[in-house]
Amino acid sequence: PVLVVDFGAQYAQLIARRVREAGVYSEIVPHTATAAEVAAKEPVALILSGGPSSVYEKDAPSLDPGILQLGVPTLGICYGFQVMAQQLGGTVANTGLREYGATDASLTGDGGVLLGGQPADQNVWMSHGDQVSAAPEGFEVLASTTATPVAAFGNAEKCFYGVQWHPEVKHSDYGQDVIVNFLHKAAGLPADWNSGNVIAEQVARIRAQVGSGRVLSALSGGVDSAVSTALVHEAVGDQLVAVFIDHGLLRKGEREQVENDYVASTGVRLITVDARETFLEALAGVSDPEQKRKIIGREFIRAFEKVQSELIAEAAAEGDPMRFLVQGTLYPDVVESGGGTGTANIKSHHNVGGLPEDLQFELVEPLRTLFKDEVRAIGRELGLPEAIVGRQPFPGPGLGIRIVGEVTADRLEILRDADAIAREELTKAGLDGEIWQCPVVLLADVRSVGVQGDGRTYGHPIVLRPVSSEDAMTADWTRLPYDVLSKISNRITNEVREVNRVVLDVTSKPPGTIEWE
Ligand code: XMP
Repeated sequence: PVLVVDFGAQYAQLIARRVREAGVYSEIVPHTATAAEVAAKEPVALILSGGPSSVYEKDAPSLDPGILQLGVPTLGICYGFQVMAQQLGGTVANTGLREYGATDASLTGDGGVLLGGQPADQNVWMSHGDQVSAAPEGFEVLASTTATPVAAFGNAEKCFYGVQWHPEVKHSDYGQDVIVNFLHKAAGLPADWNSGNVIAEQVARIRAQVGSGRVLSALSGGVDSAVSTALVHEAVGDQLVAVFIDHGLLRKGEREQVENDYVASTGVRLITVDARETFLEALAGVSDPEQKRKIIGREFIRAFEKVQSELIAEAAAEGDPMRFLVQGTLYPDVVESGGGTGTANIKSHHNVGGLPEDLQFELVEPLRTLFKDEVRAIGRELGLPEAIVGRQPFPGPGLGIRIVGEVTADRLEILRDADAIAREELTKAGLDGEIWQCPVVLLADVRSVGVQGDGRTYGHPIVLRPVSSEDAMTADWTRLPYDVLSKISNRITNEVREVNRVVLDVTSKPPGTIEWE
């Protein structure tokens, strides 16, 4: 792999994704990795990421100097560029000047292999205090800015390169070209990482792991469980059984999507558990959000355990212990829970699909090395319906946490109708790519006066919560076109009974969370 050395900012994952977009497999390692640990991974190239520190700080994250002696092509970015300069005999100066945001960089000479062919002046994204004031011996300066004399350097013989700016962010005009040039031209790596290869590799791995054993999978209707299940099915066919629990808190058409389109496109053996009544009974009279989440989580596990024990009994009768369980764990989960970087930054959300810890299963996790966009690409390659592969995030507790107040069958019906209209209009307007997700919330305990025809109405408001986000940790409200908002509002108030008002949530996160509960 190409190893991305993580110096502790959020940039490492982005860099790893850009490398894969260039068709080369990448993994993230913490900056504390020793030269021996790095060598053991047999890297074909290294990229040193940016980081929040100054090389002058007392506990500044450092790099085992042996790593730059391994003879591996290396690209340093921002802080990684400075670490490289320092270790190889250049000078890093603490000038007190800061460069932040869009900056003009000018090529020095032809820009070398790294920047060659790019315009002499380009817009790059900077974020640094210290700067490299002298390149190490044997290095050529490839670019500079007004504030930074050495903004990029290279040593073609050693295949060492560095840039002060962030080529991984879209605000750097020729950013991806820098990464592509480094990987393909400088390091000579072929672009052979693509969905087809990933599928072939995972299928082989899954077969090796489970042999002839039986495998259980829980489908939630979301992208990750849909793709991981389809991959395992591709590998082991009918040794796999998928379970889908309909808790009644799904959106309009979701169950049908799974039961019809998904099954038709994969051939997966699916068991649907209709638990709608059980969930409604358990939720009766409850309006506290945390309470609702707990109840939904508990009922989910109960329903799953019931069907699981039936399936295990069935398998046991045929001499198989049904030992394997599919999980749609993604690479960011692995990295964020310490599996990749040592930075613990785990989301506190527990998925309703999250299964009890005492289950005696061995996990099959075919998406563990993949990012979300790669998972979607694989899903498409496997022929899954676009409605599932392109789906925006949806919380495990479903519509249960989008009804502010008690959850009842009537209220679910109202919310489902309003949500379907909003989704339909957003898709029709071509806005799905711009929004991260758009929760539609029913304020069931609020009423307001309205007028319709000749009559006074006393109905409930629906809240639209369109947000833009990179990772759901922070978000901004999406500036949707007025005519689209107007269309959604008109349709909801006309077509959904008991709703006489539509309001727009214009709060960023923080301070508001994306969901209302
Ligand atoms: P908040 O509301 O915390 O949501 O800003 C952040 C993201 O997480 C989703 N979300 C959940 N997902 N189980 C999930 O699987 C949950 O309990 C849960 N709660 C919120 C939310 O839709 C958003 O994408």
